[in-house]
Order: sequence, then structure tokens, then C-alpha cells
Amino acid sequence: MAHIEGFRVRNYRSLRDVTIGRLYGDRDTPGLTRLIAVIGKNGSGKSTLLDAFGFLSDCLIMGVEAACDQKQRGGFERLRSKGMTGPIHFDIYYREEPNDRPITYELSIDLDELRRPFVSEEILRQRRRNQSRGRPFPFLNLQNGNGEVWAGEDALQATGEESRFKIAVNLTDTRQLGIATLGTLRDHPRISRFRDFLKGWYLSYFQPDAARGLPSAGPQPHLNIHGDNLSNVVQFMEREHKDRFAVILKRIASRIPGVRKIDTHVTEDRRVLLRFNDGGFEDPFYAQQMSDGTLKVFAYLLLLEDPEPPPFICIEEPENGLYHKLLETLATEFREHATKKGSASQIFVTTHQPYFVDALDPSEVWILEKGKDGFSTVQHVVKLEIVKNLVAEGLPLGGLWYSDYLDAR
Ligand SMILES: Nc1ncnc2c1ncn2[C@@H]1O[C@H](COP(=O)(O)OP(=O)(O)O)[C@@H](O)[C@H]1O
Ligand SMILES: [Mg+2]
Repeated sequence: MAHIEGFRVRNYRSLRDVTIGRLYGDRDTPGLTRLIAVIGKNGSGKSTLLDAFGFLSDCLIMGVEAACDQKQRGGFERLRSKGMTGPIHFDIYYREEPNDRPITYELSIDLDELRRPFVSEEILRQRRRNQSRGRPFPFLNLQNGNGEVWAGEDALQATGEESRFKIAVNLTDTRQLGIATLGTLRDHPRISRFRDFLKGWYLSYFQPDAARGLPSAGPQPHLNIHGDNLSNVVQFMEREHKDRFAVILKRIASRIPGVRKIDTHVTEDRRVLLRFNDGGFEDPFYAQQMSDGTLKVFAYLLLLEDPEPPPFICIEEPENGLYHKLLETLATEFREHATKKGSASQIFVTTHQPYFVDALDPSEVWILEKGKDGFSTVQHVVKLEIVKNLVAEGLPLGGLWYSDYLDAR
């Protein structure tokens, strides 16, 4: 069960220097919760924070130059915080398992002399196995593609062994992350695990229209980011996990108001169609006829039921197109899923829907604001004493936010 304890972004658009959760050495701040919600007015940086996760994930998959040049990003110069000259920088502080020693990943992306983005620094650190204090030791340390990596699972059990396992690295392509290259090698299991963790992140760009399409290819195990293979996932579940799928459909139906039963119907040409039974009508509706909201909730809930769920799920404004009463249900489902015993997924959402926020605890909520200088600032709601007290008295958090209590400093 991987868990992100903290995340710091520097020089990424309006996020000139923003930290959520805690980083290495910060003993007084609690780590991030399993469900994290970021709220804020328009222009405060919610989408940017979510995209910072997406950017990291893209850097791993396609390299830093292509990640910068994605349509919605428009190149490095537009990404770097206005007026800044330093690199775009990320720190992730995370644990593979609750009792594992935390790992820090530091990544800097800068422009080379030809103004091409490249990885200027990349470091992975972890404390030695038998040390509970002190500075974590790097097991990957690269500057401009050159540096060292320490092989093996536990090469650093004893001091003095550093040099024995040290291997010099000289990457030929500094647009690729070092973890992308080294993570494929059997000699570096710790790097592989981190790479796999990052590779497993799921950023939802769910489009109900895309999800309505009729399945073209065959069964597919995982929902993709646009949700346009929803029917293929349904086919997969129906074939590979039939009994479990029936239980899942029953559970999902009970969460969506107005839906009595969801089942599948196999057509003569062997396509699997999703069939929703509405309380009011005798004949079922097919996914093609369902409302955006219903399909969206269905897709989110199905995502949570993935037999190999993503370790980190990011969802932007799940409220769009949803009936407000569904929002509390959804927030509660997300939390239940993220916190249940053995849960594999940590969930990050951005929202500005008070009904969604109502279902949250102050420890789960972060507020982004646009500061006077135009850059985003972030505040952990649990640190706002009045808000914490009012919530303890039974006032719903979303209502407080709506009435501007959360702006009061
Ligand atoms: N390179 C940049 N430097 C500083 N601010 C930027 C940069 N690029 C975009 N912004 C600002 O970032 C702000 C945050 O936008 P966004 O993340 O879309 O907010 P939200 O999703 O909360 O509505 C916008 O007000 C935009 O002007
Ligand atoms: Mg936005």
C-alpha cells in the first residue's frame, strides 16, 4: 500500500512554492490523508496542482520535453512560474508500506543552452535500514544525466558499503527520467518499484460521451483516463470475475439513486452491453441512454473496484454533471475506499462543490488561494482553529466554506 506523505512543487505555473503534507525532516506536520481534497476559488491553482501530478506522470511516460509540450501545457516557458528563472522542481515524500522507511524523490527540470527542457537533477533517497534518524542516503543521484546509482535491495545496510555497490551512470538522453531508464533493470529493484508506483497513477479525464461508445475491441482489464473503454472493462469483468462483478454491480446500483439494478446483456454478436434498470420504467436503459452523472458515478465506482487498483487516483472536479445529493455519496465512497484495510489507492480530488466538501473532514481538505503576488498559497483546513471547532460542533464544512469562513485567517 503506497502512500504519498507529502508533495512540494516549485516554479510550476502559479505554484511558485507550494507544499501539501509533509516532507523529509518535517516531524511536526502530519502526512497526507488517504483521501485528499483541494478546494479554492476559480484561478486559485486547483487544476494546476492536479496537472503537476499529471506532468510528473507524463515526464515518466513520454520524457520531459514531450510532457512540457502537451497541448494543455504549451511548453516549458509557459509552465515555469512567471518571472522565475530556476528549474521546475518536485519533491515527493512517500512510503511503499505503512511501516517502511520513507523515500524522497526530487526532480528538477530546466532549460539547456538551446532552450530545450531536460532533467537537471534527479535524486532518490532512503534512510539506511538500521537507522531511525539521520539524513537519508541517496540510492540514485544524477546531475545533468551524470552521477551514481547504488544497486541492490539493501546495499546500504552498513556504513562503508557505499562504494562497493556504487555504479557510475551517464545517461545519453537527459529528456528521459533516470528512473525510466534504470527502473527497467533488474539490478535496481528499489528504483523499479518507485517507477512502477509513478507509472500506476491514474488521472481521470472522464468524458461521459466517450464512455457511451459501443465497445470496439475486446475485454480490457483497466479503465483508461477518458473512460472510453468502460464497456471493454465491463466485458473483462464479466468474463474474468463474473461472480465478483455481479456483487459489484449490485453495490454500485445501491449507491446511485433511481437505479434499481445494473446488469449486462450479451448481444448476438457477443458484445456486452451495460443495462440499467430504472425504478420507474419496465424496460431497461442501456449505457448509451444514461445521463452523464450516472455514467460518471458508475465509472468512478467501477474504477475503485479494479482488481488491481491504481496506487494514486487524481480526479478533477468530480461534481461536474452530478446531482448534488450524489456528491456526498461519492465523497463517502472515495473515503471508504481509500481508508479501508489494505486499500491500495490514495485519492486526490479538486472540487468547489460545498456538498462534496460537507462530507469531508478538515484533515482531508486543503485550500488554495491566489496570493497578492499572483502565486498560489495553500492552507491545511485542520489548522484553522475556528473552522475545526465549528465542524466539531456539527457544522458542515462545505457550508462554512460557502459562507467564507475558510477565508478567515
Ligand atoms: N506560468 C505561470 N506563472 C504564474 N501563474 C500562472 C502561470 N500560468 C498560469 N498561471 C495562473 O495560474 C492560475 C491558476 O489556474 P488554475 O489552476 O486553472 O485555477 P483553478 O483550477 O483553481 O480555477 C491562473 O490564474 C493563471 O493565471
Ligand atoms: Mg480548474
